[in-house]
Amino acid sequence: MAYAGITGWGKCLPHGVLTNADLASFLDTSDDWIVSRTGIGSRRIADCLLADMAEVAAARALACAGLEAADLDLIVFGTTTHDDQCPNMASGLQARLGAGPCAALDLNTACTSFLYGLSAATALIRTGVVRNALVVGAERISPYMDWDDRNVSVLFGDGAAAVILQATEQEEGVLLEKLGCYGDAREILRIHGIGGAYVHSGRLAGVTEWQFEGQEIFKKAVTGMGLACEDVLSRAGIQTQDIDLVVPHQANLRIIEAVAKRAGIEMDRVFVNVHRYGNMSAATVPVALCEALEAGRIKPHATLLMPAFGGGLTFCAHLVRWGSRTTPIETSDKELASPERSALDIVLDYRRARERGVS
Ligand SMILES: CC(C)(COP(=O)(O)OP(=O)(O)OC[C@H]1O[C@@H](n2cnc3c(N)ncnc32)[C@H](O)[C@@H]1OP(=O)(O)O)[C@@H](O)C(=O)NCCC(=O)NCCS
Repeated sequence: MAYAGITGWGKCLPHGVLTNADLASFLDTSDDWIVSRTGIGSRRIADCLLADMAEVAAARALACAGLEAADLDLIVFGTTTHDDQCPNMASGLQARLGAGPCAALDLNTACTSFLYGLSAATALIRTGVVRNALVVGAERISPYMDWDDRNVSVLFGDGAAAVILQATEQEEGVLLEKLGCYGDAREILRIHGIGGAYVHSGRLAGVTEWQFEGQEIFKKAVTGMGLACEDVLSRAGIQTQDIDLVVPHQANLRIIEAVAKRAGIEMDRVFVNVHRYGNMSAATVPVALCEALEAGRIKPHATLLMPAFGGGLTFCAHLVRWGSRTTPIETSDKELASPERSALDIVLDYRRARERGVS
């Protein structure tokens, strides 16, 4: 049976940086509190559409793999913060890239959307349905944020990244994964105001309210990711010392440390960039993957473990074998337009819009 090797990767971070000090300028919070509870120092805020970020990330991933958009058979777009629900994001990306008429689907499992998408695309390659796939993890959370709720607004950021999967006879790509969901815990993270449910609740369309039980999410995240890691390692018959690098979902440094400790893996074998970007939901794992490669932390044929969790409460862990190439074949000069406003100005504009009853 064919495998699905990861042959291209590319990221796109918005230019605007929102620091903890920026947040403390309008919110009752502090750099000390945010850093000590989460490890987050700053996050990026987009002054563009989700589709713009995804297009740049995808173009970079295609160049990295040395592929043309027309070579794609499938686009899987993982996100919770669609520019549009209908038509979907993947069809828009296909049109922007000139990749038609390949299959194009959106996938939403919140922060695990990229990894669930990796599983879906890998399965379609391994069963021979497609040969070349683009998998995107991208989020533009800032328009949906309640910027006056300090419990959540300090945690999240915007960003995008993508990978290319290609059929190969080499034992590469996702070797094993565990996917799961604690559906009975879905109310511990709910964003009111996205989707049609607000019509029944009498809320204003587009004005979000976050239902968020941080400590419960923390516990379920550590349990779910811990179980998923144990499951894939035992089924693969490999020990934790055989893992070269853990590339986890980046929501909170303390969660990452707890998962690593439970798995018996020292932090020097865990890639962390949550201090730079906060939680970019579906984008965190692929952005971390790109940055681990840029930093030389992934060697040819490395064995990677990628655990994640998200609203739902979904959880997963993927065991990935890297291929022989850790540098791009080509690079793309595609770039986001320069922002017209600072990250803080964008956020203050969202706050003013919420006061008027539209986000
Ligand atoms: C959210 C989280 C950082 C909170 O950390 P915590 O140690 O559990 O903090 P608590 O919830 O106990 O809050 C402690 C206090 O800090 C306050 N607080 C909350 N946010 C604050 C902020 N940004 N700045 C200052 N104080 C804050 C709370 O109001 C509370 O005050 P109180 O004791 O007077 O009521 C942590 O629970 C967490 O990371 N959970 C997981 C969330 C997550 O990853 N979500 C992503 C889902 S994909």
